Amino acid sequence: METNHIDQSTIQETNRAGWNKAAQQFYGSTALPIYGPLAPTESDLRLLDQIRNARILEIGCGSGHSLFYLGEHDAAELWGLDLSETQIGYASALLQEKGYAAHLFSSPMEENPGIPENYFDMVLSIYAIGWTYDLAHTLSLIASYLKPGGSFIFSWEHPIYGCLKSQDGQMVLKRSYSDERPLTRSSWVNNASVIQYPRKLSTYLNSLIDAGLIVERVIEGDMNPSLAREDDHLFERWYSLARAQMMPTTFIVKARKPGIVQG
Ligand SMILES: C[S@@+](CC[C@H](N)C(=O)[O-])C[C@H]1O[C@@H](n2cnc3c(N)ncnc32)[C@H](O)[C@@H]1O
Repeated sequence: METNHIDQSTIQETNRAGWNKAAQQFYGSTALPIYGPLAPTESDLRLLDQIRNARILEIGCGSGHSLFYLGEHDAAELWGLDLSETQIGYASALLQEKGYAAHLFSSPMEENPGIPENYFDMVLSIYAIGWTYDLAHTLSLIASYLKPGGSFIFSWEHPIYGCLKSQDGQMVLKRSYSDERPLTRSSWVNNASVIQYPRKLSTYLNSLIDAGLIVERVIEGDMNPSLAREDDHLFERWYSLARAQMMPTTFIVKARKPGIVQG
């Protein structure tokens, strides 16, 4: 296990409470067609398989805005899972208001709350997968949900980006890229406490391979200034134009479950 002596129920409870507290701050902020802050979008990349008539599951669906995007593009079925009941409440309200039926679960991604196996054309996760405390098990569950030939596409903060900090007008390395021990942060967004999991890029890629998925594409895209908001020009911001010019904020991976694509 990766949890380094923090037991699973403590992690789940800490992060559930933390995300319930922080959810409002992130409402609709990291959702398709956006893959991440100042990152290339789905319009730039055309990474998704056909959405029309597809059964799609989102891991860490947050406020439901990616599921809404997929509904607008004629997905056949929308499924979503999130640890935070506040986020699931937002997603449920949004999708209901927009007239889309969805199967939503308030559940950790490390467990299967009743999601069918060998069922989905696509599983997606936009800025959520890195929250897992057990990457290997989460990816093996995701592989089990996919039909043979189905694809898994996720985005997450680039692991090196999180090692940088701005200091006296320069970017410096504030922590070791190789250190994968969990980090407890006691005053995160809205003063929430959360436990986070720094991992190397190779850890993500090798874990996908170990889960039996075939990696098709890895994107460390150029900065996308069209997504910049006014305060992204400030050097000290976590996601700033200056910082994103030196290091991609986001990496994006497309992987596929081996087998014949079924209709
Ligand atoms: C940055 S948000 C994702 C935003 C989402 N793409 C949206 O459109 O709102 C990360 C999400 O991961 C969820 N999360 C954190 N840890 C989780 C876990 N272990 N299992 C499932 N979801 C988790 C959080 O509750 C949060 O909604």
